Amino acid sequence: MNITVTRGSLTDFDCEVLLVGHFEGSKVPEGDACLLDEQCDGIISELIDKGDFEGKLYTSSVLYTRGSIPGQRILIAGLGKKEEFNLEKLRGIFSKAAQRIRSFNITQVATSLDFGETGFAIEDMARAAAEGALLGLYRFTPYKTLEEDKKGEINEFIIVEDRAGLLEDISKGAQTAEIISRAVYCARDLVSTPSNDMTPSILAHRAGAIATEANLKFEALDEAAMGRLGMNALLGVASGSAEEARLIIMEYNGGGKEDRPVVLVGKGITFDSGGISIKPSEKMDEMKSDMAGGAAVIATIKAAADLKLPLNVVAIVPATENLPGGRAYKPGDVLKTMSGLTIEVKNTDAEGRLILADALTFAKKYNPAAIIDIATLTGACVVALGDYLVGMMGADKELKKEISSASDATGEMVWELPLWHEYDELIKSDVADIKNAGTRAGGTITAALFLKRFVGDCPWVHLDIAGPALLSTDKPYIPKGASGIGVRLLVQFLIDRSQAPHVSHP
Ligand code: BES
Ligand code: MN
Ligand code: ZN
Repeated sequence: MNITVTRGSLTDFDCEVLLVGHFEGSKVPEGDACLLDEQCDGIISELIDKGDFEGKLYTSSVLYTRGSIPGQRILIAGLGKKEEFNLEKLRGIFSKAAQRIRSFNITQVATSLDFGETGFAIEDMARAAAEGALLGLYRFTPYKTLEEDKKGEINEFIIVEDRAGLLEDISKGAQTAEIISRAVYCARDLVSTPSNDMTPSILAHRAGAIATEANLKFEALDEAAMGRLGMNALLGVASGSAEEARLIIMEYNGGGKEDRPVVLVGKGITFDSGGISIKPSEKMDEMKSDMAGGAAVIATIKAAADLKLPLNVVAIVPATENLPGGRAYKPGDVLKTMSGLTIEVKNTDAEGRLILADALTFAKKYNPAAIIDIATLTGACVVALGDYLVGMMGADKELKKEISSASDATGEMVWELPLWHEYDELIKSDVADIKNAGTRAGGTITAALFLKRFVGDCPWVHLDIAGPALLSTDKPYIPKGASGIGVRLLVQFLIDRSQAPHVSHP
């Protein structure tokens, strides 16, 4: 779907459907709904007067203009109560409206953002509306071959605005939304792809193609190269699989030569069977999504480049399968990490922290301004926070604040769990320096404490996305399946950081 911005009025815009909004409780149509109502002999006010449309959030009604204006239909979308309106609601409103319009097999929509006074900046409104429509219309269809599954698509989404002074801001918002939504689509596609078509080497190949397109530096280390670096924790996890592991490295240099980069590290387990500590078969299929953190950082660095952000970013993805093969690593094994620290393997299903240990050590080579890792790391995080929230842990207050504010702006909500150092006891090992699994209780925190051992004193935040990475039910603008969680959060973090430059010189 293309998003365009045009000067004009909806009342004389020739289009299959005109999308406008109405606040719950408002007695008369406002903004552009009012203009359409005047041209169409009061059809909208009649609908409201008769009580047939109340403006409740996410509802909508279709009206036929029958020649009174060039637009053939009006879809009036409920905006909910005015005092509860915000940008997160707006994303959902445009998603639901766009989904309904698509279900009518309509291919072209014209809309306006004039709902009367809302108190939000027009650029933010345009971005949220366009993002909501794009994200809500996502479908993953490469494996669908049957005719009945090939439903229509909206090709054109036109934002129409009469006030010339607003056009530039609206265009800016829509363009940002398009770039970010494309990146989210890219992450969702990578995660949705089944693991037989998303092996570590295929993931590396896809990342390479994205890098070429976005003009990024790219490298993928093979197992021999990782061996030379001493990444034996990562290689230990990889040993049970016939597929070779990869360490994917992408670099975007939009900042100065001396600027320390933000390094993003994403867990890239392309399938997590649990290994020798094998998982129950029920829902094991969902573990194709165990590279969602990796997909998020690949998509984020692509968006950073497409937005031409003035800062340096590195994305690192340790990618491997976790399978129980004849050469697989086993409970009780001791692995020597790239950092030199030794790890006793208590459970081969706690593989994420092992591959991240070596990836984080590798990340420190870049002398980062900050390291953010993102991973579908613990089932305990799903138990604690459910499928809306990202678990956030870290010792750097400033960095956590930046992430929280990006979270508020994007609706990708994070909730902090404490790095409670008393729990360090739980990952002490009798035979090695540390072990990879503590007790069940506090599992998200002990996983983060484990990672902390590998970041040293670099400002660092860990994001556990085990809950929201793969959804079993629809959300207002996130269809069920791979959510692309983390992309909008991390991109917003980078946007904000590039606008308020940090002391980032060595
Ligand atoms: N990939 C899983 C975590 C996960 C669980 C993600 C559910 C998404 C949904 C991770 O590798 C894992 O298996 N973690 C174990 C750790 C335990 C053995 C210490 C877990 O959470 O059970
Ligand atoms: Mn696991
Ligand atoms: Zn895993």
